[in-house]
Amino acid sequence: MSGWPSFPDELPAFDPDDAPDDPHELFLSWLTDAGEHLLAPHAPVLSTVDADGAPDARVVVLRDVVAAGFRFATGADSPKGVQLAGEPRAALTFFWPGRGRQVRVRGSVAPCSAEASAVDFRERSPASRAEVLVGHQSEPLADRAQLTDRAQLTAAAHAAAGRVREDPERVPPAWTRYELTPHTIEFWQASHDRRHARLRYRRDGDDWVRELLWP
Ligand SMILES: Cc1cc2nc3c(=O)[nH]c(=O)nc-3n(C[C@H](O)[C@H](O)[C@H](O)COP(=O)(O)O)c2cc1C
Repeated sequence: MSGWPSFPDELPAFDPDDAPDDPHELFLSWLTDAGEHLLAPHAPVLSTVDADGAPDARVVVLRDVVAAGFRFATGADSPKGVQLAGEPRAALTFFWPGRGRQVRVRGSVAPCSAEASAVDFRERSPASRAEVLVGHQSEPLADRAQLTDRAQLTAAAHAAAGRVREDPERVPPAWTRYELTPHTIEFWQASHDRRHARLRYRRDGDDWVRELLWP
């Protein structure tokens, strides 16, 4: 599996000595850069652990990033929501292959206010809201026929779309915006000479401590 190229010939330069004191500033500049070069720059892998301590991971969309933290949204009743309620620590991993970059964020997660979750839901497209109202995400399918029964699926989607139209303010109670407050953020920049640059910011009280890591 080693024959595929990981990165393009041209990679951006990154000198950790020139990095800002605030990792939020560096993250925003890398995110903006990624958005100019590749798809879904705002879709990291969210890693959580379940009640047995086993890791789990899936892609989510970053809804917002502010100095205080990284925000994403999902159902509190989804497997990831249940896992976060049991163990409110998580990691977000961004991989931007077209730029040879990875960002690793680790921290604690807390639900935002009910108002913020409602705003999050109402900002979604009608189709996305209807999909959430249809529900069943991550529930086991009894059999494939359930999935291919288009009449059943269409009826559920149609009903959900109707509910969104009739009551645009409606917010499912489980819909939750979460905020991950980072305690470390690592920036990884590939280099074709294999001297990859790694810069980790670690929270120390109100400050960030910067440390270089061996590649
Ligand atoms: C690009 C992309 C973006 C996604 N964004 C979200 C999201 O913001 N929230 C969400 O609940 N699921 C999102 N999903 C679906 C999740 O990856 C996952 O399949 C689903 O949430 C069920 O996860 P769980 O069973 O671990 O709770 C996204 C998937 C992809 C591929």
